Amino acid sequence: MNSTPSTVLVTGCSSGIGYELIKLFERGPYRIVATALPSSLEELQARPIAQSPKVTVEPLDVADYAAGTALVRKIEKEIGPVDILVNNAGISYRSTVEDMTVEDEQRQLQVNYLGAMHLIRECLPSMRRRRKGRIVNISSVGGMMAMPTMASYSASKFALEGASEALWYELKPWGIHVSLVRPGFINSLAFTKVLYSRKKAAGESSEEYKGHYDNMKTFVEKIMTRTPSTSADVAKRIFKVCQRKSPPLRAAGTPDATLFYFLRRILPRFLYHKLLFRSLPGVKSWGPTDPEARL
Ligand SMILES: NC(=O)c1ccc[n+]([C@@H]2O[C@H](COP(=O)([O-])OP(=O)(O)OC[C@H]3O[C@@H](n4cnc5c(N)ncnc54)[C@H](OP(=O)(O)O)[C@@H]3O)[C@@H](O)[C@H]2O)c1
Repeated sequence: MNSTPSTVLVTGCSSGIGYELIKLFERGPYRIVATALPSSLEELQARPIAQSPKVTVEPLDVADYAAGTALVRKIEKEIGPVDILVNNAGISYRSTVEDMTVEDEQRQLQVNYLGAMHLIRECLPSMRRRRKGRIVNISSVGGMMAMPTMASYSASKFALEGASEALWYELKPWGIHVSLVRPGFINSLAFTKVLYSRKKAAGESSEEYKGHYDNMKTFVEKIMTRTPSTSADVAKRIFKVCQRKSPPLRAAGTPDATLFYFLRRILPRFLYHKLLFRSLPGVKSWGPTDPEARL
């Protein structure tokens, strides 16, 4: 039996799922490296969990690739090679495609996709040498079904899903596990952190998109304040995936994720898109401001 504690690297631990997850790992035989954005570092360091001898808190903006490389080297030198990498850090733009700028698109992809891929590449040589390791990427229901005003967020999670699936095949010969955990709606204040595009912030968004923004915002916030699933529940599901001998490639992070998964699989595509469009909140008021031009 291997009694050496596994080294776990979890990104984005200042709040939400990441914070709940490191509390679970802390109770087991793990050495945990929990990262936080430099701007949130002090907040995380001040929490009781950061006082545990098993937990090391490190600053990391996952979009700073050089910092990601330096962190993985530091962990390898001072703690040991990373056994479990949990790419949890994420941001979410609420914006129509037309309102996004190239810079906004790049930021969304850098944090949710490119940063995660970079950390994977940094951890893999040692995992391959040791023929063991686990990579857990936190996706989203948005990584299997796209919703209006969330195109860029969905694109980043679809990208994460596609790459993780390819990686699953690539790494199987070394016995390295790759998993995606897909949370759906979570009862949290994460919606207060959504980002608006520079164009929208500058007041340059067309009035014709007002219905999209207003209705989607109210809809998402209402569900997020009413859903019973919490960040702690999602963390438990991730933790279970990390402990399974043969973890699945895809796991639901919340019960609604299972429901959406089956809806998406069972319904014929044309029907699914039609039904989803019809159920969008206030959709009849979306679009042209001239009522006669509406659908
Ligand atoms: N909440 C949901 O309903 C939901 C649903 C589906 C999927 N997810 C996914 O679950 C993961 C965790 O989200 P959450 O709900 O726990 O939200 P959260 O509380 O906002 O946590 C996200 C974490 O990522 C950190 N972060 C943001 N930008 C970063 C960057 N550039 N580099 C490093 N860290 C960064 C945040 O730090 P700061 O606190 O300093 O900003 C925060 O600690 C994300 O990947 C998200 O897409 C969430």
